[in-house]
Amino acid sequence: MALIKDVDSILEGKKVRVRKAGEKFDCTSLLPDDEWYPKAVRTKIRPARWNWKDCLAKLKQIASDPIPGADRRFIILVHNDTEEMMGTAPGALIGMTILNPGEGLKPHRHTSFAIYHILQGKGFDVMQDEDDPEPTKIEWEKGDTFLCPAWVYHQHVNDGDEQAIILTVQDFPLLAAQRNLLFEEPRGRDNIKQVNKKFVPHRDTAGSFKLDI
Ligand SMILES: [Fe+2]
Repeated sequence: MALIKDVDSILEGKKVRVRKAGEKFDCTSLLPDDEWYPKAVRTKIRPARWNWKDCLAKLKQIASDPIPGADRRFIILVHNDTEEMMGTAPGALIGMTILNPGEGLKPHRHTSFAIYHILQGKGFDVMQDEDDPEPTKIEWEKGDTFLCPAWVYHQHVNDGDEQAIILTVQDFPLLAAQRNLLFEEPRGRDNIKQVNKKFVPHRDTAGSFKLDI
C-alpha cells in the first residue's frame, strides 16, 4: 500500500457534485445551547408492561403460514414513548420468535448482538464467526439463555415436537439511530446492506423457512 502521489488523478474523468468551500448546506444550522436543549429533550418513558397472553396470541397468529413478504415469525415489543427508535426501551428491544417444529432460519448476521432466552421448546443454533474454522452448534431447551455476539453468523432451528418460542434482547434501535445497523442475509458478502428506508431485512429471502435438517 502506498500513498497516492498524483492527487489530480483522483477525480479525473468522474462525474462529481462539487460543494465549494464556504457554500452553506441546507441541512445544517447553528444553535446556542438555550435553544438546543429544549429541542433535545426526549419524551418521558412511562413504565409499561406487555402481557404474555397478548404476546402468545400474536405469536400463534404469525405461526400460521404465510407471513406476507417475510421469512421470520418475529414480533417486537414496542414502547410508543420511544417514538422513532421503535424500541422496547430507548436503544434496545425485546423480540419474540416462534418456530414451528422442523422450521429454521437461514444463516445470517447483523451488527446487533442478540441475547436469547428460550420460553418454550427445544432446538439448536448454529453460529460461526468469519474466522472460525468450523461452526458451533448450541443446543437449547426451555429456560436456557445464550448469546450471539454482534456480526456472528447464526441460525435458529426447531428440531423439537412443539413450537419453539425464543425471547430476544437486541440493540437494534441504538444501531439504527446511529445508521450502523447492517444485515448480511442470506450469507454472502454481496448481501451486506445497511437497514434504511431503501432496505428492510427479511423481505428478499421469503420462503426460506423449511430446512433440510
Ligand atoms: Fe438474527
